[in-house]
Amino acid sequence: MQFTFRTAGGARVLHSSQTEYKQNTDEEELSYFRVASIEKNGIKWKNWIPICVSYAVCILCCRLAEQRLQCSIRCMSSAARKRKALRSAFPVLEQPLKPILRHVYEANLRNSNACHKKYMELSDKVRKGGGENAIARHTQRNKKLLVRDRLRLLLDDEDFLELSRFAGLGLPYGDIPSAGCLTGIGRINGLWCVFIANDATVKGGTAYPITVKKQLRAQEIAIQNRLPCVYLVDSGGAFLPLQSEIFPDKNQGGRTFYNEAIMSALKIPQVAVVCGSCTAGGAYIPTMAEETVMVHRIGTIFLGGPPLVKAATGEEVTPENLGGARLHAEVSGCVDHFAWEEKEAYDHTRNIISTLNFQLPEEEEEDEEVTKRKNEEPLYSSEELLGLAPRSYNYTLDVKMVVSRLTDGSRFQEFKARFGTTLLTGFGKIHGNLVGIVANNGELSYEAALKGSHFVQLCDQRDVPLLFLQNTAPTAALTLSTTQAEKNTNRLKAQGSMMSAVACASVPKITVVIGGCHGADSYAMCGRAFDPNFLFLWPNARVSMTAPGHSGSLLPPDAEQQEEEQKKQEDKLNKRLEEESSAFFSSGRLWDDGVILPQDTRKVLADCLDIIKQQQYQLSTEKLQSALLRM
Ligand code: COA
Repeated sequence: MQFTFRTAGGARVLHSSQTEYKQNTDEEELSYFRVASIEKNGIKWKNWIPICVSYAVCILCCRLAEQRLQCSIRCMSSAARKRKALRSAFPVLEQPLKPILRHVYEANLRNSNACHKKYMELSDKVRKGGGENAIARHTQRNKKLLVRDRLRLLLDDEDFLELSRFAGLGLPYGDIPSAGCLTGIGRINGLWCVFIANDATVKGGTAYPITVKKQLRAQEIAIQNRLPCVYLVDSGGAFLPLQSEIFPDKNQGGRTFYNEAIMSALKIPQVAVVCGSCTAGGAYIPTMAEETVMVHRIGTIFLGGPPLVKAATGEEVTPENLGGARLHAEVSGCVDHFAWEEKEAYDHTRNIISTLNFQLPEEEEEDEEVTKRKNEEPLYSSEELLGLAPRSYNYTLDVKMVVSRLTDGSRFQEFKARFGTTLLTGFGKIHGNLVGIVANNGELSYEAALKGSHFVQLCDQRDVPLLFLQNTAPTAALTLSTTQAEKNTNRLKAQGSMMSAVACASVPKITVVIGGCHGADSYAMCGRAFDPNFLFLWPNARVSMTAPGHSGSLLPPDAEQQEEEQKKQEDKLNKRLEEESSAFFSSGRLWDDGVILPQDTRKVLADCLDIIKQQQYQLSTEKLQSALLRM
């Protein structure tokens, strides 16, 4: 006969007889069982009583212990939420503008004003979407809300972080305002959510290659930061003339649906609102979402629309009968919530979000000192960043001036202040969030890269998010002598170490390109390829392998070529570099998460740090075996 007991730790212990049990347990535990006289083939019924009682007591104890453990974990997390950050009194960076530098400041300011003008012009262009006629068709004929009005109803407020506003501008296949879809991160019932919202005024919301890229980047951000995704679908599917660039490859159309499934399995909620057509590929977004809302009359879901049905079968059918909200809510079950009109759909969506398993920390009353520190603005106006944004590398001022206009109270705890001074490293706070700052202050020399590597690992060790302020040298160092060769080799090794440290650091990383983003230095400074959680550019930023004006080193020497001809080629290349390295060119192609104004940087960084922090408030994060499957 065998007995099974559970120890306080929960481990199962099997005993074939009391004798064996005696051998395996201590005296105290055995006292419960002494009364039982075990016979060869069984136990008399009265002997079951103490055994059952003790077994019940054991189970009870285990349950209590388990509950106590869970309770202590909860208490720990709520205590963690109540914990205060350690007191800090980082030194203030005294960085007023010195009169001797005013001419550089003024030159930068003039350039920043020109960039600002371009930024505003492009913002205006993007806001107009597909143009007046398309807007009239969308609102008057199709009776739909414009995408920004939809977001106004969905989000808590208009204060959302828009991603890659200029994506789609200046592409070989034309200007596609906002890449035909708005993406960003906004709050719904206090919870930061990624939204992906088609703008149907741009060619019926059809997906261009850049649209797909933009959607995938938004999903990537959602995965990296564990943010719920809300899709506002109003799309005619693929933009057919460019189908070969949308359909076949890994990171193209199908990836959106793949990501939806993977995110669902990772317990990153997927919610869709059908507020227009969901044709062909577009139809899979709501049908793969975990919960879907559909709007009566304006929402349709089908693989092929009425014209296709007519062509194939000769049958005339209305969009509503073929795949309207009634059909999908009552017959197919493709959607879960029916809404008579758009406003109701966004109310449903907000309610869905409130059922997600997140628990935000309670707003606690903080002592006056903590509140004061948290709201401490930099000592210097953020407007002064416009004069610090370098128009070119030669106009770069000390990066401490930039840092002192970003951190709370202009405070900064510098690390290795006297070593590798062409890289600034240290800790600061942005709206109370501690960050490790890594900022270029000249060429990324051997010493600077070693220091960068050390500091990045330090932040990773301490779980402190990293902020990279990038302004890298315009061109790679030349090797003109043996000494130079040795120096460059050492630098190469140190930069390699820094790149490894940055790539492997598991803390969140945010990169802001405040000047140049050139060559290999930009990798070590957490360029796009190094997977920062967010990467933004200032409008003055330049992104290219080598900066305009330094193209000579790129051209192969040709002894037979006339000097004049060589000069012509150089000029041509420089002109091209000038165009292709602009921040707007980069953002149009989605090499970043958007162009932000220098004076808005502190606010954007505060939002990003807040967004990154949110994942710790999700109660259930365990990975599932598969995505939630619809009926
Ligand atoms: N590919 C390329 N262009 C498309 C397109 C597509 N799949 N769908 C729509 N467009 C274009 C139209 O030609 C029109 O262009 P224009 O402004 O230069 O004239 C513009 O988008 C708006 O389309 P329109 O039909 O006038 O607007 P609408 O609001 O009445 O209808 C749709 C929008 C998306 C419902 C409708 O155009 C449609 O059903 N398109 C076909 C969808 C389809 O079958 N997709 C299959 C993709 S695999």
